[in-house]
Amino acid sequence: MKIRKARIHSFGGPDVLRIDDVEPSMPDALQVLLSVKAAGVNPVDFKIRSGKYPAVKEDRLPYTLGRDASGIVEKCGAQATRFKIGDEVVGMVGIGGGGYAEKVVLDEAAIARKLREIDHVHAAAIPLAGQTAWQGLFRYGQLKAGQAVLIHGGAGGVGHFAVQFAKAKGARVLTTVSTDNLEFARMLGADVVIDYKTQRFEELAKDLDMIFDLVDGETRERSWKLLKKGGVLVSTLSEPSQQTAAQHGVRALRYTVESDGKELDEILSLVASGKVKPHVQKTYPLEEAAQALNWVEQGKSIGKIVLTVG
Ligand SMILES: NC(=O)c1ccc[n+]([C@@H]2O[C@H](COP(=O)([O-])OP(=O)(O)OC[C@H]3O[C@@H](n4cnc5c(N)ncnc54)[C@H](OP(=O)(O)O)[C@@H]3O)[C@@H](O)[C@H]2O)c1
Repeated sequence: MKIRKARIHSFGGPDVLRIDDVEPSMPDALQVLLSVKAAGVNPVDFKIRSGKYPAVKEDRLPYTLGRDASGIVEKCGAQATRFKIGDEVVGMVGIGGGGYAEKVVLDEAAIARKLREIDHVHAAAIPLAGQTAWQGLFRYGQLKAGQAVLIHGGAGGVGHFAVQFAKAKGARVLTTVSTDNLEFARMLGADVVIDYKTQRFEELAKDLDMIFDLVDGETRERSWKLLKKGGVLVSTLSEPSQQTAAQHGVRALRYTVESDGKELDEILSLVASGKVKPHVQKTYPLEEAAQALNWVEQGKSIGKIVLTVG
C-alpha cells in the first residue's frame, strides 16, 4: 500500500519539497518499520533540501527529509528483537532520512521506548536536538556539577535542551538569546540570560569551564577569552581553530550527533520525570512540511517545530 512522503527530487528552496505517494521502504535485519505519528523538524533538513549538506548528494535523490520520528512499530527486521509490533517508540532516523512520511525505517539501536508521560509530538521533538545537546555537554564537554557553561543559542532546538540538561546536572548556566526570547530562557532555568541583540556577552561572562557554541562566526571569535585555562569550546558547526584554542590554553572541537537508543532512554526518563520539558512552539500537518521547514529556516522557531502525521 502506498504512503505519503515529503520528498525532494532536486536541491533548492522551499518549493522543491513535494508530497509523493510511494511504496514504503522495508526494514533490514536490524531495523524496524514505524508507523509515524509525529516527526521533528531540524535545521539539517533545510541544509539537505538546499544541497548544502555534504553527506547528501544527488545520488540519494529523491530524498525524504526528516531525522526524527515517533510512532508505532509496524514490522521488525529478522534480527531486530528489542521491540515488538505495536510498541510506541521514538528515535533518530539515519542520514538516509525519511521522518517526513507516514512510515519510516529506523535502526533498532537508535530507538527508545516512548514513555507514557510523553505524547508523540513532544517525543518527536527530542532525538536529534536532545542527543546533540547531551553529547555536546557530557560526552565532549564533560560538563560537571558546579561548573559554568555559556550556551550560545539557548532558545533553539538544541539550545533549549542544553540549558535544561546543564541545569539538571547542577551546572551554572549562562545563555545568549534574542530580546524576544529572554523570558523563555529564564523559564528554562538559565542562571544568566544575555540579550545578544542589546548586550555584549563578553561583559557578563568570564572564567567559564565550557562554551557550547550553536551559533559560530563572530560569536565564537568573541568567546575564546571567556574560557578558563583548561576549559573547552564545543561546537556543532564549523571546525574550531586549534591554533586559537592553543593560544588560549583551552580545548576545542566540533562533532556530529550520533544516534544511541540507550542515551535516548536516559533523556526520555528526565523528560518523563518533569525535570526537562521539550518546548514545541508549533505543529504542522505533514502536507505543510515545506512551510514548517521554512519557519525553522527563517530563524523564527523557539524550541522545536514538529510535523503531525497519521
Ligand atoms: N553537528 C551536529 O551534529 C548538529 C546537530 C544539531 C544541530 N546542528 C546545528 O547547530 C545549530 C543549532 O541547531 P538548532 O536545532 O538549535 O537550531 P535552531 O532551532 O534553528 O536554533 C538556532 C537558534 O540560534 C539562535 N541565534 C541566532 N543567532 C544567534 C546569536 N548571534 N546569538 C545567540 N543565539 C542566536 C536563534 O534564537 P533567537 O531567536 O533567540 O535569535 C535560534 O533559536 C544549527 O546550525 C544546526 O544545523 C548541528
